[in-house]
Amino acid sequence: MNITLRVFKPEDFDTLYEIDQACYEPEVAYSKRELRAYLHFSGSDCLVAEAPAQAVAAAADAPAPEKQIVGFCISARRDEGGYIVTIDVLPQFRRHHVGSMLLTEIERRLAANGVREVTLETATDSDSAVAFWTKHGYRNRGIKKDYYPGGRDAFVMAKTLPI
Ligand SMILES: CC(C)(COP(=O)(O)OP(=O)(O)OC[C@H]1O[C@@H](n2cnc3c(N)ncnc32)[C@H](O)[C@@H]1OP(=O)(O)O)[C@@H](O)C(=O)NCCC(=O)NCCS
Repeated sequence: MNITLRVFKPEDFDTLYEIDQACYEPEVAYSKRELRAYLHFSGSDCLVAEAPAQAVAAAADAPAPEKQIVGFCISARRDEGGYIVTIDVLPQFRRHHVGSMLLTEIERRLAANGVREVTLETATDSDSAVAFWTKHGYRNRGIKKDYYPGGRDAFVMAKTLPI
C-alpha cells in the first residue's frame, strides 16, 4: 500500500475527528474540544498517513482528492519525556503497517527533540493495541484502574528510545 506521511494541517481537523470516532467506542473517543486541545498542547506533534484516494464518483464540478487520510498519531513532549496521546488507523487500513510507519516517525521526531523515554496508556482489554505496542518495544509498567470513561483499566506502557 502506497502510504505517505506528512505533518497535520488545520484543515485536517474534521477528518481526524471522524477517524477517532471510527476507532474508539463513543465513550472513549475524543470530543472535538479534547482533540483540539491535544493538538495544541505545547510540545505536541501530529502526523497523518495518507493513501491514494479510492475511486469515488467525483462531482462534475469538484475534482476528486488525490489522497485520503487513513490514520494519524499525536505525541507530546516535555524535556526528555515523550507521550503518545493517540494513534488511530481506520479499520479497513489496519495490518498494513500504517500504524508502524506513524509510530516510527513520531518516535524519530521525539528523539530528535531530545526525548529519551516514551510512555502511553492503552486499554488492558484491547489485545490488538497491546500486541502493537509490545511489537514496538513498549513494556508494561503498571495499571491505572478506571482510567477510561466507562471504567475500563489502562496499562501504562513505556519504551526507552535508542540514542
Ligand atoms: C493499534 C493500531 C494503531 C495498529 O495499527 P495498524 O496499522 O493495524 O498496525 P500495524 O499494521 O503497523 O501492526 C504492526 C504489528 O502490531 C501487531 N498488531 C497490530 N494489530 C494487531 C492485531 N489486531 N492483532 C495482533 N497483533 C497486531 C502485529 O505484530 C503487527 O505486525 P504484523 O502485521 O506484521 O504481524 C490500530 O489497530 C488502531 O487504530 N486501533 C484502534 C485505536 C487504538 O486502539 N489505538 C491504540 C491505543 S492509543
